[in-house]
Amino acid sequence: MRFQSSAAPKATAKTDAFVVFRAEKSKDLGTLPLPDKALVSAAADAVKAGEFSGKGNETVLIRGGRDGRRCLLVGAGADLLPESLRRAAGRAARVLDARGITHATLLVPGGGAADAVTQGAALAMYRFDQCRGDKRPKASFKRATVAPETGGVTLVRSAVKLGEALAASVAFARDLGNLPGNIATATYLARRARELAGGNLSVRIHDRAGLKKLKMGAFLAVAQGSRNEPRLIEFRYRGAPGKKKTIAIVGKGVTFDTGGISIKPPAKMEEMKFDMCGGGAVLGLMHAVAALKPKVNLHAFVPATDNMPDGNAYRPGDIVTARNGKTIEIISTDAEGRLLLCDTLAYAAEKKPSLLVDLATLTGACVVALGDAAAGVFGGAAAVEKVKAAAERSDETVWPLPLYPRYTEMMKSPYADLKNGGGRWGGACTAAAFLQEFVGDVEWAHVDIAGMAWTDGNSDYRHKGATGYGVRLLWELVNG
Ligand code: BES
Ligand code: MN
Ligand code: ZN
Repeated sequence: MRFQSSAAPKATAKTDAFVVFRAEKSKDLGTLPLPDKALVSAAADAVKAGEFSGKGNETVLIRGGRDGRRCLLVGAGADLLPESLRRAAGRAARVLDARGITHATLLVPGGGAADAVTQGAALAMYRFDQCRGDKRPKASFKRATVAPETGGVTLVRSAVKLGEALAASVAFARDLGNLPGNIATATYLARRARELAGGNLSVRIHDRAGLKKLKMGAFLAVAQGSRNEPRLIEFRYRGAPGKKKTIAIVGKGVTFDTGGISIKPPAKMEEMKFDMCGGGAVLGLMHAVAALKPKVNLHAFVPATDNMPDGNAYRPGDIVTARNGKTIEIISTDAEGRLLLCDTLAYAAEKKPSLLVDLATLTGACVVALGDAAAGVFGGAAAVEKVKAAAERSDETVWPLPLYPRYTEMMKSPYADLKNGGGRWGGACTAAAFLQEFVGDVEWAHVDIAGMAWTDGNSDYRHKGATGYGVRLLWELVNG
């Protein structure tokens, strides 16, 4: 998919179709900002005939323009805010593609949100077919020109570039989430991470021996049952060398979660390849950082391993020692994410970052609490505020959940300092309370993305499978 930007359309515009976005019941429903009189009057007729009212499920293709040009009227629903436009652009791209249209001009109402329009169209055209041997028909919709309804190209040019770059980074994260556990192993993720390095972005990879040196006994316990080698991926990015301020980001990278000895039931277990999507979001962020070179300093980590049952696997009842010296009784080998994260968070916190944020597909309980409407966010008030602000700017929603001392109490073990399971109730909160024991006094937020990282069906700009959630959120967080 190729994007370009342009000024408001002229009569000579080279395109197969114009796309016009309208909110429900808006006054300009049938008023097209186009120089093509035949299309303008055909659109006005369609509105008069009640064929288009701007609702979020409506797309109406108007024919009869000069040189066979068409106009797709797309309902944006209640408003023209960025997420409504992102979704409308996604629906538009699907319709254009299904109609065999190659090159369309997407008109941004008001000239705002050109980045959202670009993202919606680009992400709707995302395909995951690198594991397919059969020949699927190529996409028809290949070229988009993004233009304001009125005004010059400067209104949209940089927004289109940014939208395109972030969409590519989201697609990168989706690919990693969709790749199966036998391909996207920890060593594979490390390889993809190394490919991103260059300039002031460096990558260091810690192997099993390195993890031992780092005294990451909790992470190593999870990894000990696997024939695949674990990796801790460590990124350093210095885009603001003059400044001391550094933001640290950690993403859970469980490349496949069987549950280990506390093995999961078989139904939908294949979807547990998505359990590295927190790490995938971190890799997606670094993909964007490599392309866009923001003026910030970052320290980012992806602890990666699969969680397997084996003769050498860790067991319920085992007691392991984390990097910060705290001992943990294993209640369930399926509560593995917090074990990779606790060692990595302790390590990240030692460098005293100004802000520490982790993303993890951590608990089924968070999915029970919030569904796929929002990720749960926990932590210190200042860090949570920053994540909430980034969520608002990126339209990747989060909702705050509590960290009462009661949850910490529930994670105390009679045999060790902590245990890794707190029982059935409040599972998202007890998991967060466990992580809190490893961040010291660093300003920290934990984002449980278990309900957001995967989707069962296609909609707007999303496809069944990994969503790439978190890339845009993290981008806004580090640039906020
Ligand atoms: N990766 C899972 C969390 C998960 C489960 C995400 C279902 C999406 C859907 C995590 O490692 C896990 O297994 N968590 C357990 C924790 C429990 C054993 C304390 C859970 O949520 O059931
Ligand atoms: Mn698990
Ligand atoms: Zn897991």
